[in-house]
Amino acid sequence: MAREQTAVLTGGAREIAPATGRLGVMLVGLGAVSTTFIAGVENVRRGRALPIGSLSQMATIRLGKRTEKRAPKIKEFVPLADLNDLVFAAWDPIPDDAYTAAVKAGVLDKHEHLEPIKDFLQNIKPIPAVFDQYYVKRLQGSNVKRGKNKRELAEQLREDMRKFKNSAGLNRLIVVWCASTEVFLTPGPAHQSLAAFEKAMEQNDQSIAPSMLYAYAALMENVPFANGAPNLTVDLPVMERLAEDRHVPIGGKDFKTGQTMMKSVLAPAFKARMLGLSGWYSTNILGNRDGEVLDDPESFKTKEESKLGLLEHILQPDLYPELYGKVYHKVRINYYPPRGDNKEGWDNIDIFGWLGYPMQIKVDFLCRDSILAAPIVLDLALFFDLAGRAGLSGIQEWLSFYFKSPQFAAGLYAEHDLFIQHTKLKNTLRWMMGEEQITHLGIEYYEYAEK
Ligand SMILES: NC(=O)c1ccc[n+]([C@@H]2O[C@H](COP(=O)([O-])OP(=O)(O)OC[C@H]3O[C@@H](n4cnc5c(N)ncnc54)[C@H](O)[C@@H]3O)[C@@H](O)[C@H]2O)c1
Repeated sequence: MAREQTAVLTGGAREIAPATGRLGVMLVGLGAVSTTFIAGVENVRRGRALPIGSLSQMATIRLGKRTEKRAPKIKEFVPLADLNDLVFAAWDPIPDDAYTAAVKAGVLDKHEHLEPIKDFLQNIKPIPAVFDQYYVKRLQGSNVKRGKNKRELAEQLREDMRKFKNSAGLNRLIVVWCASTEVFLTPGPAHQSLAAFEKAMEQNDQSIAPSMLYAYAALMENVPFANGAPNLTVDLPVMERLAEDRHVPIGGKDFKTGQTMMKSVLAPAFKARMLGLSGWYSTNILGNRDGEVLDDPESFKTKEESKLGLLEHILQPDLYPELYGKVYHKVRINYYPPRGDNKEGWDNIDIFGWLGYPMQIKVDFLCRDSILAAPIVLDLALFFDLAGRAGLSGIQEWLSFYFKSPQFAAGLYAEHDLFIQHTKLKNTLRWMMGEEQITHLGIEYYEYAEK
């Protein structure tokens, strides 16, 4: 077996550059998710709240055998950036500072979580965005960059990144897309190679969406990029290749938060017990700006594709045609302003059991969209930064745990089951640190145990 392959299988700690200095977290979009994330981190830093929902901050990781009783917190096991070392910046076509944007988003309690950090939030003013209404029909913004073509706009984004790094005295950067969902696009000739992409930018080709310009700019600056929306963005041959060539980690798409998170828990349970599924009807009402943007059929189509994919992958109808060969799967999103960010996701699930007898499950998740998304942004920022320092590049499949439509290498398929994703994430951390993989075999406690 080749030496390298042996190292991969048996572990042996990877060289990881220490998390010295400050980490700049650049967010595309300064809306509900971004402001809930930034204000949340600042409240946690001031000891005013707990980072609930964040694995990087709250979870432990078991090491070695169960009898060893070693279970440090993840943040004590791997060298992550400290919350006190995070510095924030964001782009947005709407000129509101982070305080005003957070108040308008209406997610966090103004008195309890925004007023006490008002000065801090007011200091975060959005950098002019690369924005084009063609790609997000329901938005208008005045805080927008001008340039003679898309390539020039991408260069301006690169300049923003360098400026932020220098002026804030940062050691490293990370970019997370938390901006609106763009209209549905499919990969075309302009996305196949760097030369084609750069030419298309110069020609203002319509297949180059703003999110792709941010991704290109980040990769050219050697900055890891995570995509929290379902747009293609880094899910393109040109971006995958560029990330590999420049040794930069990338990943997406679409934060896995409410309804889809529940789906990726329930569907594996049905399959594990060999229960059949005949239909799954999911509907949502939400009244935030994201809901308004998704009310446009073209943005909804992007989201719909992202939400629909997982059942087929989890249930494998080709292997189990009697159980999953005829599933009627429908997803609806309805913009309903009175609800604001407090979404309601209903699921009606028609399953069948022994001898084909039908049963129903109803899930009514009264969730808060941005409260579920904010800890994901934090974990992605910290883990993508870790991946970069550990020399990992290209798609970071081990972070699929956080995404509705995880990116994967050619020839594979996406792993959607939340618990497989969770095991993969933790085993990757063990592997990075040269610890044994946990297979859950456990036979050593019985067959070979000293009686
Ligand atoms: N909250 C969740 O549970 C969740 C889950 C999965 C995905 N998402 C995705 O995360 C994104 C953010 O959600 P949100 O609730 O914060 O939405 P939001 O509408 O409150 O914020 C998005 C912000 O992005 C800005 N924006 C749009 N185009 C931009 C561009 N080209 N450059 C810079 N900024 C731009 C908008 O002006 C807006 O302020 C959405 O795409 C949403 O679909 C959210």
